Amino acid sequence: MSITPVNGHDDHEHGDTAGSDVALREGENSVGKFRNPGFGPHRPRRSDVDPAANKRAERQVVVLFAISILGTIGFVVAYFALPPGETLASMRTSNLALGLGLAFSLLGIGLAAVHWAKSLMNDHEKAEDRHAQRTSDAGRAEALQVLKDGADDSAIGRRGVLKGALVSSLALFPLTLALPLIGEVGEDWNVSKFKRTLWAKNKKLTIDPTGRPIKASDVTVGSVVHVIPEGLDEAEAPLDEKAKAVVLLVRMDPRDIKSEQGEGWSYDGIVAFSKICTHVGCPVALYEQQTHHLLCPCHQSTFDVADGAKVVFGPAKRPLPQLPITVDDEGYLVAQSDFAEPIGPSFWERLR
Ligand code: FES
Repeated sequence: MSITPVNGHDDHEHGDTAGSDVALREGENSVGKFRNPGFGPHRPRRSDVDPAANKRAERQVVVLFAISILGTIGFVVAYFALPPGETLASMRTSNLALGLGLAFSLLGIGLAAVHWAKSLMNDHEKAEDRHAQRTSDAGRAEALQVLKDGADDSAIGRRGVLKGALVSSLALFPLTLALPLIGEVGEDWNVSKFKRTLWAKNKKLTIDPTGRPIKASDVTVGSVVHVIPEGLDEAEAPLDEKAKAVVLLVRMDPRDIKSEQGEGWSYDGIVAFSKICTHVGCPVALYEQQTHHLLCPCHQSTFDVADGAKVVFGPAKRPLPQLPITVDDEGYLVAQSDFAEPIGPSFWERLR
């Protein structure tokens, strides 16, 4: 433990402070009874005493910097050679390559800096005494005087028009930043595109992400399946469509179903609900089999799947929209139609 004088500013090299008494101002209580233990004995590092070890450490630092350089080159190459493209696979590959490049680039520099500091830089221990944070009264008075002199020099108190012009220009300036921002997000206010998803009559329910169709007989009681519409990959913007159409399929004992959002919307205990939380749109994915509750990990909204996905806890304001489902002639699960109401956050409540 190091106890320090209140107003001191001196740096002490290793060993200078060992055993010294603590100087405290009068009235600054009992810590004064402790003695400053100072530094422990100095132990030289291997690289301080062995020139070969020193050289080896230098080479290691150079290698770490080289890793960083290669990472950066890899990042730049990946940026041009592996554009994200439109498919999930190409996005994954691009993100992976960029992420690895960035990781090596930063990691190399970080590790090199740490290794350099620990093995090659001077190993002098130093103590810097703490000092009072508060500026002295004289310093504060001086600062106030400087501000007052500045205000007097600008004559702003006597020139009302000038003052008004200054305030107006400062108040209006943020518009130069805000307008382009608002203008650019303008298109996103077109929320009508959220009203419809890819689900339609007889569209097969398929497993996310393989796209394999599911038979009702494949879904066991208590299981949860993440589902996307058949043919999602052929859509014009598959990721946008997926973001709207993801569904959670749950099978329970048909006797446990207390209510549905529409008559005949489930099939033999299998119910399907939008996975997009009606609070602010996180994916709801935690299913509690005993209670039939679905939990959103973002703000803990909880929906009762057995009771039409009504909200039983949390900030969400409306149930998860239910997807009406049935089976086709071959026993595959298919949608009866699109969702009857828009998916996602509760903006849509306004339209009711
Ligand atoms: S987004 Fe689900 S609870 Fe907030």
